[in-house]
Amino acid sequence: MIYLGADHGGYALKEEIKAYLAEQEIPFVDCGTDSTASVDYAPIAQRTCRAMLADADRDSRAILCCGTGIGISMAANKVRGVRAACCSDYFGAKYTRLHNDANVLCLGGRVIGPGLATELVDVFLHTDFEGGRHQRRIDQIAAIENGEDLNA
Ligand code: RB5
Repeated sequence: MIYLGADHGGYALKEEIKAYLAEQEIPFVDCGTDSTASVDYAPIAQRTCRAMLADADRDSRAILCCGTGIGISMAANKVRGVRAACCSDYFGAKYTRLHNDANVLCLGGRVIGPGLATELVDVFLHTDFEGGRHQRRIDQIAAIENGEDLNA
């Protein structure tokens, strides 16, 4: 399942992504917002990420949009278990899956257009984590989340 969330700055892009997912017959849940009325991105990031993490399917993903993609990615990365990547290029969207096992893709509705956004969504959803040495690094990120000293 794909969980979608956006503030007003990302609302239009979220709607484009919804149309793309529907066309691809990829199931999604829309966690809001529902209009271009101004709304804070942090609550949306939190509820969308929590919904994704509560899904029994470990392959669930979230896609978050705000004006830049940055604020909503900062908020998402505060949710334990989230590895959110703000991407605006194909290489980043691909390698954040291969190397970082990112589970949340963040996009800027005022940065990229719908054509590039759907390419990024497509590669993000269809690229598997490589594992190996990258697993150790993911584990280190989780250790930071748990307050461990990686340099002790
Ligand atoms: C809202 O104006 C804007 O600040 C927000 O969408 C986002 O770009 C924040 O990072």
